[in-house]
Amino acid sequence: MSQPPTPAIQATSTSPNLSDLEHDNWRQLVLATKQEKEQTERSGFKTMTVATNTASGADARMVVLRQVDEVRRYIWFHTDVRAEKVMQLEAFPTVMLVFWDENSQVQLRLTAETRLHTDDHTADEHWQKLWVGSRKTYLSEQTPGSEQPTPYPGFPVALGEDLPTEADSEAGRKNFAVIECRVLAMDYLHLGRGGQRRALFQYEPDRKVTWLAP
Ligand SMILES: Cc1cc2nc3c(=O)[nH]c(=O)nc-3n(C[C@H](O)[C@H](O)[C@H](O)COP(=O)(O)O)c2cc1C
Repeated sequence: MSQPPTPAIQATSTSPNLSDLEHDNWRQLVLATKQEKEQTERSGFKTMTVATNTASGADARMVVLRQVDEVRRYIWFHTDVRAEKVMQLEAFPTVMLVFWDENSQVQLRLTAETRLHTDDHTADEHWQKLWVGSRKTYLSEQTPGSEQPTPYPGFPVALGEDLPTEADSEAGRKNFAVIECRVLAMDYLHLGRGGQRRALFQYEPDRKVTWLAP
């Protein structure tokens, strides 16, 4: 049986301690990676928007939060190595990760430095834990974002709604990439009837923790 998520710290008339708040934000991120599909109150932190820099400006898209290390302050997500965002990250490794959780009314904006893992132990470890349903998209014969004459489902058409076998799914490994994000700063915003509440937790270059005007 899956457990309902522990509610994030709520706004009250008394301010929460900044260090408790920081710890709770990281705990909520960790919990989001562990939640089950059938859980009724799903955390909004299960997905995030990744904003990147490009030569001509900026880009952004949703991804699934895959793993969180709250002690070292790392976050990981997966993508296809052929995707446009990978090229962008190679040129401009700094990203903004934006989370919104409707239940707790909390937005987190994380500034992070990324590192691409394709043919190494980190990528192997994530790939090993990935179920065949998620591996299926890495079997796509088409480069993400390439023009197509007709709608293309993002995996070999012949598979339809079937899942690949574990052995067949291995063909997707060459297209699989893990993006590791070293978090440099976390900007917290809580929306509440009694007012908003905003705080900064900066880790690099210097540690700084402070309330901010929303
Ligand atoms: C809810 C949701 C979750 C998604 N998760 C991922 C993901 O984990 N990894 C990924 O590469 N794309 C994911 N996508 C697709 C991306 O948003 C995007 O369309 C795709 O990766 C191409 O982006 P790019 O051209 O900027 O590389 C997700 C989309 C949605 C709507």
